[in-house]
Amino acid sequence: MLASGILGYSAETLESIAEGGAGAVVTKSVGLKPRKGYTNPTVVQVSCGLINAMGLPNPGIDEFAEEIREARTSLEVPLIVSVYGYSEEEYATVARKAVEAGADAVELNVSCPHVKETGSEIGQDLEILAKVVSKVKSTINRPVFVKLSPNVTSIADIAEVVVKAGADALTAINTVKAMAIDTETTIPILSNRVGGLSGQAIKPIALRCVYDIYERVKVPIIGCGGVTDWRDAVEFLLAGASAVQIGTAIATEGPGVFKAVSHGIEEYLKVKGFKSVKEIVGLSHRS
Ligand SMILES: Cc1cc2nc3c(=O)[nH]c(=O)nc-3n(C[C@H](O)[C@H](O)[C@H](O)COP(=O)(O)O)c2cc1C
Repeated sequence: MLASGILGYSAETLESIAEGGAGAVVTKSVGLKPRKGYTNPTVVQVSCGLINAMGLPNPGIDEFAEEIREARTSLEVPLIVSVYGYSEEEYATVARKAVEAGADAVELNVSCPHVKETGSEIGQDLEILAKVVSKVKSTINRPVFVKLSPNVTSIADIAEVVVKAGADALTAINTVKAMAIDTETTIPILSNRVGGLSGQAIKPIALRCVYDIYERVKVPIIGCGGVTDWRDAVEFLLAGASAVQIGTAIATEGPGVFKAVSHGIEEYLKVKGFKSVKEIVGLSHRS
């Protein structure tokens, strides 16, 4: 799947990713009202990854509904709309509007590390988090995925709360809180100072998160964080993921990364004598 926030801005970009071989696409996170996001610089390249603090720029659900409608008519793969809000009512309203426009599922962004009063601030408050998930669940009749933050003491504890509240699947992980400082100017490079690290640098962290979550809950897990080639994807499957999302690697590998990864998984299964992906989900947990 395409991960949220990377090229998921319009029907056109979602289509080009689906053509590149993605099995499903997730849109950029959308809220109730338009949001400008932060001023540049919003992305900085570091060793083995990117740090971004975009600030959730989006046109608001009413305008974005047009893109969802258009994408739904042209896409041949499931369309998942990523949703954020500042209260349980807001999450539910945006999710309802996304479903009315044609979303096949919603992914709740309760894990953005760089915008105040939403994202990971919601995801770290277990009481509010549970209310958000159950409110959305009772508002829409489509699967609800919840995207978790690694910036917590125990991601498995949070997964348990979210699943009890009704989540149908979990996406792990969003970016890891990080920063970079310009030694010439002596100040942080990102305008927001702090952002989220993505790409190969976070893969071992994401893998551990998926492994921990798999030990605690029974819903499907979507692994996300640093997947760049088929071997990364297979590692996530062995850790317990049923699917993976790819974001940053599109910048280095191009949209063909989806076909390359799925072809590589198929070859791996053949060589190892497995009949389907299902046979290797969580296989690393056996004693
Ligand atoms: C530029 C950029 C923008 C992002 N925007 C969003 C977003 O709007 N919503 C969200 O849930 N995650 C967002 N993410 C996080 C990614 O979806 C993903 O969780 C993270 O980048 C790890 O995956 P990757 O290493 O494959 O990129 C963004 C990541 C990047 C690099």
